[in-house]
Amino acid sequence: MFKLPHIPRERLPGLLAAMPKAELHIHIEGSLEPEMIFALAARNGVALPYASVEELRRAYAFTDLQSFLDIYYAGASVLLKEQDFYDMARAYLARAASENVVHAEIFFDPQTHTARGVAMATVINGLHRACVDARAEFGISASLILSFLRHLSEEDAFATLEQALPLRDKFMGVGLDSSELGNPPEKFARVFARCRELGLHRVAHAGEEGPPAYVWGALDMLHAERIDHGVQAIHDAALVRRLARERIPLTVCPLSNLKLCVFDSLGAHNLKQLLDADLAVTVNSDDPAYFGGYINANFTQLFAAQPALTARDAYQLAFNSFEASFAAQADKRVWEHRLKECFQRYFEGD
Ligand code: HPA
Ligand code: ZN
Repeated sequence: MFKLPHIPRERLPGLLAAMPKAELHIHIEGSLEPEMIFALAARNGVALPYASVEELRRAYAFTDLQSFLDIYYAGASVLLKEQDFYDMARAYLARAASENVVHAEIFFDPQTHTARGVAMATVINGLHRACVDARAEFGISASLILSFLRHLSEEDAFATLEQALPLRDKFMGVGLDSSELGNPPEKFARVFARCRELGLHRVAHAGEEGPPAYVWGALDMLHAERIDHGVQAIHDAALVRRLARERIPLTVCPLSNLKLCVFDSLGAHNLKQLLDADLAVTVNSDDPAYFGGYINANFTQLFAAQPALTARDAYQLAFNSFEASFAAQADKRVWEHRLKECFQRYFEGD
């Protein structure tokens, strides 16, 4: 890494916002703002169990992952048409680009929609068209990761994969999300093995609320190339060493962890410890419409809460986001060069 001069702490928020970065852990259904939920409900004639945007927002007081998921799946019920998926993804990509996200790898939960009678092609075509248009309109590159819901059966995941395969060129990987506890990775070993044969990238949520054993399982049974969250890995020294040695990235989501009570405060978050253990940590927003902030809010609030985090850490986190992505090597080099230029410009006082 190049030599970083000292930077006063008061300049950190500006730098964190300005630096180019990749977002690797964003559930597109979690970017659905209450205003858009109500607009889509009206457009599609869907009845909501909330009288107003304010009432819905007031329901966003979560105690754990499951208390969030119940509301998150209810919010997604307004998505019916291809244009709905397009509008949701376009809004996220516009916002992400405005926060200097140059590349996004976006999760979507098809089973949430196909279970309501929405066709797989409706979901994927709408999201994919938004990704294509966003590159031209906002200059952001974006790709899609199909996530299996782990509270459902592996058989259901197989059926979902089968439905998605005709659209194989429109998503580049698979993930695993929803209720972690009681749904260990090995439940999906066979479907992930099939995805591996198909040449799909593989990631999995593990070690958000679940134990380090679930992170081991994601690595050994699913051949996950990245771990989503992974913060519980800190409780297993051998696991931390393995993650460091194999450069397995962790896509950490500070505001999500705060809102779902994984940590009591941002000051108590263990991101800095994970970074200092030489893990390829990244910062992400998870479900920004529900957790009170997009990617830059995750960076700035975490850095504000933890004086030990420095400009060097900021650089490392953004650099890691490019390295951890599934983008082409040539694109990574371009973004990393832009990152370096951004820091140099910043230190020259622009
Ligand atoms: N964990 C598990 N499933 C999810 C999450 C999460 O943080 N967000 C959306 N689905
Ligand atoms: Zn997530």
